[in-house]
Amino acid sequence: MTLRAAEGRRAFLRFLAASPLFALAVRAGELPAVDELIASPEDALNVFDFEAVARQKIPPAHFGYLATGVDDDATLRANRAGFARLKIRPRRLVDVREVDASTELFGRRWPTPIVIGPVGSQRAFHPDGELATARAAKAGGHLQVLSTVSTTSVEDVGAARGEPVWYQLYPSSDWAITERLIARVEAAGCPVLVLTVDLFAGTNRETQARYKKRDARTCANCHGETQQSYVSRKPMFDGIEVSHLPDVVDAYGLTWDFVDRLRSRTRMKLVLKGIVAAEDARLCLQHGVDGIVVSNHGGRAEESGRATIESLPEVLEAVGGRIPVLVDGGIRRGTDVFKALALGARAIAIGRPYLWGLGAFGQPGVEKVLELLRAELTLAMRQAGVTSLAKLDRSYLV
Ligand code: FNR
Repeated sequence: MTLRAAEGRRAFLRFLAASPLFALAVRAGELPAVDELIASPEDALNVFDFEAVARQKIPPAHFGYLATGVDDDATLRANRAGFARLKIRPRRLVDVREVDASTELFGRRWPTPIVIGPVGSQRAFHPDGELATARAAKAGGHLQVLSTVSTTSVEDVGAARGEPVWYQLYPSSDWAITERLIARVEAAGCPVLVLTVDLFAGTNRETQARYKKRDARTCANCHGETQQSYVSRKPMFDGIEVSHLPDVVDAYGLTWDFVDRLRSRTRMKLVLKGIVAAEDARLCLQHGVDGIVVSNHGGRAEESGRATIESLPEVLEAVGGRIPVLVDGGIRRGTDVFKALALGARAIAIGRPYLWGLGAFGQPGVEKVLELLRAELTLAMRQAGVTSLAKLDRSYLV
């Protein structure tokens, strides 16, 4: 580190240490001591190093949105704890000089099974938002899924990624809105539509509410007063009349009829995100769904208390290899990726880890988070004697 950089870092750390919130958090044991915060992405040893910096840099209300679970955040914690219950069973004396971590989805081979999951409002974490994420995805060869409630348009994200991304759709009880969104993402060349089905019963996000109280800014100054004003600011809703629509995200009346309607409306591959039960996995097959993401929205939807890694086996069994199954929730280490793929997932997605990288350092932060996870996965494969994901199966787990 140059003298100047070291001075800059010390000034930054002094600034942080002076923050009353920071002192509170340190007393509560939530944060590393100031001199343990990383000053640049290169200093990170693992993805958690970015979380501590992101917590400092992102305004409290926005960090609350990032971090929150629901109720007691029990499902959020369960997602993580689920991985610790699975143990790796390595094989020895395998030539692991060449390790292939590529995977295939809908006829396309990806160099890594680590997918950038859909997350709304990424400019809340860094001014470059989804563009920074897309550029980092491009650098590492990752599949990116763009959220309905993104703060950058599907066209601009596709341009930054260098090719059309997958598009995540929140269902609406107003078909005209869905129709407009589908037409737009089809025109943008998106090959896959990911319908999120786990959120429209409503949510109780207490951690988010608590963080919001710590934020001195007035939310309505940016977000407006109503859900309509919140949604209509989003670029994917440009030109879409939302004033009559109370339920772009919360749409209590939705059923499999909506899936059928989507299925017959578009030739894009249709993936359902948020499936956690074998019965629903079978219904996916009956309704012509092309893929599943086992997900509980990162513990942000219902407080089931059940980890997605525990839901994965029943979904895989119901599907019987007929369509690809992905999983997300709590994946923070290469060994977590390894375990999910060993159970039978075709790929995994992450949410918060790349947001930590984004909030901490923008694009270089996201790039480093992805690089760390890729390196950890390769290491886990070598250590277990697995030379390609095609050879990874449940025999590598206990
Ligand atoms: C999300 N997630 C999400 N999912 C989705 O389908 N559409 C969306 O707009 C969002 N928005 C969103 C915002 C934030 C701040 C988070 C943390 C998550 C859920 C996301 O795609 C994914 O399912 C989880 O984030 C995976 O869990 P981890 O990796 O965050 O533990």
